[in-house]
Amino acid sequence: VKEMFLGNDTVEIKDGRMFIDGYDAIEIAEKFGTPLYVMSEEQIKINYNRYVEAFKRYEEEAGKEFIVAYAYKANANLAITRLLAKLGCGADVVSGGELYIAKLSGVPSEKIVFNGNCKTKEEIIMGIEAKIRAFNVDSISELILINETAKELGETANVAFRINPNVDPKTHPKISTGLKKNKFGLDVESGLALKAIKMALEMEYVNVVGVHCHIGSQLTDISPFVEETKKVMEFVVKLKEEGIEIEDVNLGGGLGIPYYKDKEIPTQKDLADAIINTMLQYQDKVEMPNLILEPGRSLVATAGYLLTKVHHIKETPVTKWVMVDAGMNDMMRPAMYEAYHHIINCKVKDEKEVVSVAGGLCESSDVFGRDRELDKVEVGDILAIFDVGAYGISMANNYNARGRPRMVLTSKKGVFLIRERETYADLIAKDIVPPHLL
Ligand code: LLP
Repeated sequence: VKEMFLGNDTVEIKDGRMFIDGYDAIEIAEKFGTPLYVMSEEQIKINYNRYVEAFKRYEEEAGKEFIVAYAYKANANLAITRLLAKLGCGADVVSGGELYIAKLSGVPSEKIVFNGNCKTKEEIIMGIEAKIRAFNVDSISELILINETAKELGETANVAFRINPNVDPKTHPKISTGLKKNKFGLDVESGLALKAIKMALEMEYVNVVGVHCHIGSQLTDISPFVEETKKVMEFVVKLKEEGIEIEDVNLGGGLGIPYYKDKEIPTQKDLADAIINTMLQYQDKVEMPNLILEPGRSLVATAGYLLTKVHHIKETPVTKWVMVDAGMNDMMRPAMYEAYHHIINCKVKDEKEVVSVAGGLCESSDVFGRDRELDKVEVGDILAIFDVGAYGISMANNYNARGRPRMVLTSKKGVFLIRERETYADLIAKDIVPPHLL
């Protein structure tokens, strides 16, 4: 029997066991230890190519460039960023750290954009020195700092403007960004965005290149993207009327992935059709811009699995608890957003049962799944938590003095360790005991 999982093209159940990129998950877990992140190189390639294929039409019909700038916040492991850079993918960075990784990964400067609402002077210097494609400016205060910093360096900085379009992305409130009440972007309706751009045009050390927008993450409905594209293009038309021409439109990230395996959601192709058709409606009014997208989740989430071992099983009057060695410090999404992640037992059993899967941290929210039907779980079994390739390791921490887990990459060339487990010594490496306490 070959069971398939929505979004996870490189996983299969064969001979009663789970395989990732053709490798037996249980064997990988035994070899590298648990908890263990597994990233599928093949799945990342598939996801990236889906964007390239779907948006080819834009390059053909608009005659302009299309750039995928991978949102490093999703997973900035060097092997992953290097893989994407080698495929030709750009980078969306939000910190000096991410810019450092993008450069180290060999991403060309014209494919790097810098986001964030509180860029420091140090980060602005790094961006200017790296000659990035654009800073996505989030405030007038930031614009002034970029201009001053560029002046000091004797350079010109490329700036795009993040607008706040007031569009409801219909996703989890904690990952909505394009509503008036959110902290991000320059408001369009009140004229703030236009004011900032006009200010920039008067400045000597900045070069106005584009308009940027990002309305939220894990969008499972295409209509907010259409609304966003319209608002951005209407703003571009408005700029043209003011005599201002821009080269780039950046529509951010946000395409969701099928966390629930029984519910299809829009694909890269659906997204491309909606965005391209909307953009092309403005062809008579303005010259078509280059198109940039900043996907994070939809490139890497479905490539990642967290393998974790069952250490204890406990039955309470209401719940059968399965205690595993991964915890909310390794993968925060369920605790932080009540996010659903599919879980399976890597070994198929004849019997199924309903259990709740919990980590070992001293927090009641440290639960990966409640009341899930799994193949009968026994101590020693390996469970796989799906779709953790994005916002998994990147949000992991050391709470409860737990070292962050190892990570491996499965590929046609073999299974490679791409991140070492943190040791006890790593946990205290940055702590300093003052002399009087020695
Ligand atoms: N561009 C900007 C400006 C962003 O703020 C984000 C995500 C992205 C692109 C990438 O969005 P994506 O394609 O991944 O949806 N930790 C949360 C997600 C936070 C997303 C923050 N911004 C989670 O685990 O769901």
